[in-house]
Amino acid sequence: MTDFFTRVAQAVASACSIDEAQALSFLETPPQPELGDAALPCFKLARTMRKAPPAIAAQLAEELSAQPFEGLKCVKAVGGYINFYADGAWLARQVLGHIVDTRDCLGQSDAGQGKTVCIDYSSINIAKRFHIGHLSTTLIGAALYRIYKRRGWQAVGINHLGDWGTQFGKMIAAFRRWGSREDVEARGIDALLELYVRFDREAQEDPVLAEEGRACFLAMEEGDEDALSIFNWFKELTLADAQRVYKRLGIVFDSYAGESFYTDKMGPVVEELKQKGLLVESQGAQVVDLSQWNMPPCIILKSDGATTYATRDITAALYRKNTYGFDRSLYVVAYQQNLHFKQVFKVLELMGYDWASTLEHVAFGMVSFEGQTLSTRKGRILYLDELLGRAVDKAAAIIEEKSPNLPDKAEVAEQIGIGAVCFFMLYNNRIKDIDFWWDRALNFEGETGPYVQYTHVRCASVLAKAGLTPGQALMHAPNGAHLTDADAQRVLTLLSGFDGILDEVLLRSEPSLLTRYLADLAQAYNSYYYNQRILDEDAAVRADRLQLTDAVRLTLSTGLGLLGIAAPNHM
Ligand code: ARG
Repeated sequence: MTDFFTRVAQAVASACSIDEAQALSFLETPPQPELGDAALPCFKLARTMRKAPPAIAAQLAEELSAQPFEGLKCVKAVGGYINFYADGAWLARQVLGHIVDTRDCLGQSDAGQGKTVCIDYSSINIAKRFHIGHLSTTLIGAALYRIYKRRGWQAVGINHLGDWGTQFGKMIAAFRRWGSREDVEARGIDALLELYVRFDREAQEDPVLAEEGRACFLAMEEGDEDALSIFNWFKELTLADAQRVYKRLGIVFDSYAGESFYTDKMGPVVEELKQKGLLVESQGAQVVDLSQWNMPPCIILKSDGATTYATRDITAALYRKNTYGFDRSLYVVAYQQNLHFKQVFKVLELMGYDWASTLEHVAFGMVSFEGQTLSTRKGRILYLDELLGRAVDKAAAIIEEKSPNLPDKAEVAEQIGIGAVCFFMLYNNRIKDIDFWWDRALNFEGETGPYVQYTHVRCASVLAKAGLTPGQALMHAPNGAHLTDADAQRVLTLLSGFDGILDEVLLRSEPSLLTRYLADLAQAYNSYYYNQRILDEDAAVRADRLQLTDAVRLTLSTGLGLLGIAAPNHM
């Protein structure tokens, strides 16, 4: 569509003797397709032309109609607006031409060339199992990571492991008291969690335990070999568990530098804060006073001298800046940590780092499950393994019912089950809380992953019926003459918006824009499919329709891929 806008802007600019860029900035996309493909609100010209908008619209529409340009079907003045209608066949050639030209790298751009973005996502805690609460950060972060890369950025995916802190001292103390190597080896994280819960319970009665826990963490901080080797073993167990999930979801990271990575790097940062006069003492702790900004103080060193989560994040931000020289740095973390990130960013700003403004907390809402909040303590928790397992089982049952003869049932069930979960999690505005429901996620109708995947399958099978392999209809230049009906035009308009959606996703750190776009595109194609015979007898008509189908197929599979969702060719 952008090309049509440019042409309209050129015509408007020369008719009103204004700058082309200015004319372009005046143009709007009409709210309904009946109102054309571009609109000029004439009140924007009222001052220079010294006339009422409806008079301007009438006069300009007449002038512009007298000088048509390629791509323009007609111009109409309506009230204070001029509506420009694109020539449908021309539009089809533009849109499909672009897809044909970029069929091997759809959505790719060099807009981010030379720029680097750090994305901190998933960032799980050691000795905890991956549960549904970690899914948003993992999926949103990974989607942003892929889309940044597609737009030409250098992206650094960072799993800032929660692998340091007093709780790990407690865990080691508990293991030494009650744990056994065999049991932990056999039951993994479950055994660790049990130890931790028991420790917390018994510590309420017996103050010696708390002391033991503290001593163990201190030993870790001082580099005690035995304590660290137990801890590193716990860490390996957790990571092995997480890796299984990451693999299944197609998630990758460039760095697993977590909190412990910064233990030996915080000293100089604390020193720098001191030198810059930012540290004050408060009840024995060293803090940065943020009262001027209506925030509680940011604690840098606790009264016992221990560092904090915030100290590690400040250090990590500096490390990332020095190591990667990022232009942007994102933290995909739940909104419960809003204050934490505001404090950390403010402290970096007070340290004099103007790049603090390039740090962004990409916050997201809470996840509940079928109306129930999740709580580890109350035992209401849904582990990711279980969630994915159940999703895949349900998908398998549906396949068994609908297409029992499918050759690679197990693989397709995996793709649909996981696709359903990912699509559901990425469908809403990220800041909204999510309530996960099975029947909503796995629905084959409406705005779900399976529905979009099914539309992709439909495209592939229409092409197959015509004897075409995927992509084959995109090997020739478009004609477009037979794509002027309203349904086809709606599909084309959506197709033309794909690149713009990717940019918008990055601008707003909002992958749900892409998820919704794919649901809209699937829906528009399905209307087209019901209203028009793709495999028409007329060869020219059929060729156009098949090319449109192939373009939709490619856009759906590319978009799903960027969200981490597979696009099967049959299901
Ligand atoms: N491990 C933390 C948690 O589960 C999230 C860490 C987010 N990243 C960061 N740089 N603070 O709450």
